[in-house]
Amino acid sequence: MCATCHVYLDSGCHDAVPQVSEVENEMLESAASGRRENSRLGCQLVIGPDVEEIVVHVPLRQI
Ligand code: FES
Repeated sequence: MCATCHVYLDSGCHDAVPQVSEVENEMLESAASGRRENSRLGCQLVIGPDVEEIVVHVPLRQI
């Protein structure tokens, strides 16, 4: 786990994905971009067959 897949989950999608696990929660603390209330690791967003889509926002990294 590396936290490079950090995304911000859209507000209408929280019920479509699993809850944040303890390990994911710890990894989010080391994400390069700022953690927010809706921060998630994209690789942990396993969705079931009844979910058609989720919306995530990718943090921009300015150079
Ligand atoms: S934590 Fe490394 S790809 Fe998601």
